[in-house]
Amino acid sequence: MFRTAFSKSRGAAWALGATAGSAVTGWIWTSQQETPAFCSNDNSSVLGMLQQVSQRLEHLEHLVGGKSIASQRSSTKDSPRIDIVLGAQWGDEGKGKLVDMLSSGGYDVCARVAGGSNAGHTIVVEGKKYKFHLLPSGVLNPNAVCVIGNGVVVHIPSFLNELDSLTAAGVDWKGRVLLSDRAHLVFDLHQEVDGMSDAGLGRHKLGTTKKGIGPAYASKINRTGLRVGDLQDDSWDNFERRFRNLVESHKQAFPSLEVDIDEQLAYYKAVAPRVQEMMVDTIQYTNQQYDQGKRILVEGANATMLDIDFGTYPFVTSSNPSVGSVLTGLGVSPRKLGGIYGTVKAYCTRVGEGPFPTELPVEKNSPGFHLGHVGAEYGTTTGRPRRVGWLDIPQMKYSATLNGFTSLNLTKVDVLTGLETVKLGVSYKYKGKYLDSMPANLKVLEDVEVEFEELPGWKEDISSCRTFEELPMNCQTYILRVQELIGVPIRWIGVGPNRADVIDRGVGWDLSESPSQS
Ligand code: IMP
Repeated sequence: MFRTAFSKSRGAAWALGATAGSAVTGWIWTSQQETPAFCSNDNSSVLGMLQQVSQRLEHLEHLVGGKSIASQRSSTKDSPRIDIVLGAQWGDEGKGKLVDMLSSGGYDVCARVAGGSNAGHTIVVEGKKYKFHLLPSGVLNPNAVCVIGNGVVVHIPSFLNELDSLTAAGVDWKGRVLLSDRAHLVFDLHQEVDGMSDAGLGRHKLGTTKKGIGPAYASKINRTGLRVGDLQDDSWDNFERRFRNLVESHKQAFPSLEVDIDEQLAYYKAVAPRVQEMMVDTIQYTNQQYDQGKRILVEGANATMLDIDFGTYPFVTSSNPSVGSVLTGLGVSPRKLGGIYGTVKAYCTRVGEGPFPTELPVEKNSPGFHLGHVGAEYGTTTGRPRRVGWLDIPQMKYSATLNGFTSLNLTKVDVLTGLETVKLGVSYKYKGKYLDSMPANLKVLEDVEVEFEELPGWKEDISSCRTFEELPMNCQTYILRVQELIGVPIRWIGVGPNRADVIDRGVGWDLSESPSQS
C-alpha cells in the first residue's frame, strides 16, 4: 500500500514501510544513509522497475548537483505557496515551534484562520518567553505580515493586550498585523455565558477554556453576532443597536447575566480607532499576496480531534481546526494549498473532558507520570494539567485522512527518553471486532479496547542530535514504526524544548515537494 501511495515522492517513499535495520515488504532500510536498497524479489514487477528507475534518477541528481530537484524547486522565491501547520491530535502538539522555525525561513505572510484566544502556545527566543493566544507567532519574524482571517473570533481586549505585551517586549509589530473586517467579535458577555453554560452541565461539563468561543460562534451562526467591520464610525448606530439586541437575547437565556451596556459601548467606541488601523479585507489582501508570488504560512489553532465536525463531539471546540478552515477562514481556493504539515506529539495529551482511548493513569513512577512530568504537560491558556497517554495510531490515521498531511512534525520525542519501553496504540477493538474507522458514537469510543505494540525504550539524551542517524537505534526504530503505521513521512523530529532542538530531514520528506505535485 505504501508503495502505491508514496511512489510519487522519491526519498520519502523509500523509507516508509521500513523498520530500522530490517527488511519489510520488499524494502531494506539502511539507517546510516537514509537511502534504501531495493530488494531483488520486487525487480520483476512493473512497479519494481519504476522504482529502480526513480532510484537511479535520484542517484544521478545527487551526483550532478548535490541538491535534489525538489529542493531546488522549493527554493524558487517567486513561486507562491500556502503552507499550513495543523494540530493532528487534541491540541498542544507544539505547532508554535514549527511555525516559528518556518516563518523565520522566508514566509511573507503568517495567518490564523479559526478559533480565538482559546489557543495558546509559548515560544522561547533567546531566553525570552512569548505567549500567544490570538496572534500568529510569526509576528516575531520582522519581515512577516500577520493576518487574522475572517474565520477567527476576536476578543478585542485580549487582542489589544497581546499587542501591548509585544510592544513591552520590544517587538515592533506596527503595520504588520491585519485584522479581517469579517472576523466576528467575542464580547465579555460571551465569556461569561461560556462559564455559565459549562458550569450548568455539572458533571457532564465540557471543560471549555471559558474564552467565549462557543457562544461567539453561536452568535455568528444565529446571525446575531457583530463583526470587526462593524466598528466603523459611519456604522456606529448599527453597532449599538445590534449590541443591545445581543445582550437582550443572552439575558433572556441567562437571566443572571449582568452587562453594563453603556460601559461596554464606551469601551468599543474608544478602541475603535486602534482597531480600524488594522482592519482590512484580508480575503483580497491574501489572494493578492499569493498572486504576487508571496509565501503564506497558516498557523492552525486547536487541533483536528477538537473539530466541531470531526472531533469527539460534544467534547470539541466550536470551529473547524482541520484543513477546511483554511479555505473558509481565509478565503483561498484549495488549488492554492501547498504543504499540509501535521504536528503530532510522540505521545498523546488532552485538556478538558472527553474520550481518550490511550489515556494512562498518572500515579508516581508510572509511564503516565513520566510523560506529564517530563513533558511539563500543563495548558498554556488555562494552566490545567493535561491528561496523557500513548500515541494513538487509529486516531492519527483518521487525522491524516481528513487533512491530507504532506508531512509530519513529530514533537517531544525527547520526553520518551528514560522509559524502559514505549507503547503505540495500534488498533481499536469494540465488542471483540476490529474497528476500521473512528467511531462517531462517544460511548463506543469510550469503550474501545486498544491493542498496543511495545517497543524498547532508550536512555541516551537526544537533545543535541541534529540528524536522524545520530538518534539512538531504539529511538530511530520508534520513529520509523510511527511513520510506517500512519503512512505519512515524518520530516521534523523534536528532540528538546529549545528553538534549535529539531531534526529537519529535508524537503525529500514532504510530499508537497514531490515533482509530481507541481
Ligand atoms: P473551547 O474551545 O474553549 O470551547 O473549549 C472546548 C474544548 O477544547 C475544551 O476541552 C478545551 O480544553 C479544548 N481546547 C480548546 N482549545 C484548545 C487548545 O488550543 N489546546 C488544547 N485544548 C483546547
